[in-house]
Amino acid sequence: MIYFLMTVCFFSTAVSAMAFVSFGTSSFPRPQCTVADSSLYQLMPFPMGASVGISRMKNNARYTEVVRKEFNSITAENAMKFRALHPAENTYQWADADFLVDFAQKNGKRLHGHTLNWYQYLPAWVNNFSGDSIAWENMLKDHIQTVVTHFKGKVTSWDVVNEYFNDDGTIRPSVWVKNLGPDYIARCFQYAHEADPAALLFYNDYGHEYSSAKRTAIGKLINSFKERKIPIHGIGMQFHMTYTLTDANISAAIDFAAATGLKVHISELDVRVNNNKVQGLTFTDAMAAQQADRYRQVVKTYNAIPKSQQFGITTWNVGDADSWVPSWQGAPDYPLPFDANYLRKPAYKAIIEGGK
Ligand code: XIL
Repeated sequence: MIYFLMTVCFFSTAVSAMAFVSFGTSSFPRPQCTVADSSLYQLMPFPMGASVGISRMKNNARYTEVVRKEFNSITAENAMKFRALHPAENTYQWADADFLVDFAQKNGKRLHGHTLNWYQYLPAWVNNFSGDSIAWENMLKDHIQTVVTHFKGKVTSWDVVNEYFNDDGTIRPSVWVKNLGPDYIARCFQYAHEADPAALLFYNDYGHEYSSAKRTAIGKLINSFKERKIPIHGIGMQFHMTYTLTDANISAAIDFAAATGLKVHISELDVRVNNNKVQGLTFTDAMAAQQADRYRQVVKTYNAIPKSQQFGITTWNVGDADSWVPSWQGAPDYPLPFDANYLRKPAYKAIIEGGK
């Protein structure tokens, strides 16, 4: 496996660091290396982000270093979700998310909040909540406003509601819709805006690249928000995609989102290669090349939308070993631009090429 790698390596006998480019296999012997000051985000025309896990940030210096060097936007993979922040009715747990705020502030990174409202990742107390609709409304509002207020001035933007629609464009059944009715989604945006009028508010979902019914439903929602003056500033497209996704599908999603006039965030990008869920799959050079080509195409297409709408592209975690895809798909995969050792894969180079 050939990987593109630019490193600064510190030899124990050397008096100074030496920068060089090496092409090698993962078994290629090399001195102890750290990632050089060259960086993805500095080479890109719009912000480049990654979602991160807090325990890796705390315990894996290599991971943290790659995040610091390569990305200028960060999303908490899980630490700002309802269950993480608000595990019991009267208990908020800020420590992990605050750790990330601290990292972002010390390193000049933009922090994107994910997510104020979702049907998943809820604590048991919410799923079992037995109040009437007024109690539900207060609970929804309290959560959103307590969280947004806590991070006010620290979090630039929020995924306010995540995955409200099914793939066929109907509204997904959830405890929120069941107890509050479908228009609760508009109130989520209003509550968030009241708590931090400066925060950019996104609707986030997946499937824009394969479901025109879902795109249409999202477009209608955005139009109705605009007509009703409900604050919304951006559309987040997760883009958990496969390496066989066509150019046409990529363009359909990105062009549709751009046509809303809102900011567009590719918010959770990963490109999986194990379509047939082969156990024990080997990641071949051919797969790496095809995956890189898809990353290039996503970036190239995104780069063509108006600059003012380019909120950025965020990959869903950093290295292949960090990805949620194997557990989601129930099969091994290699979906990210860095390998398990945080070496840059062909996809990394392709992202830079797509941004040119
Ligand atoms: C995933 C995380 O990556 C996992 O660690 C967690 O167990 C479940 O959630 N869509 C989203 C993300 O909006 O929040 C999900 O993240 C992936 C799919």
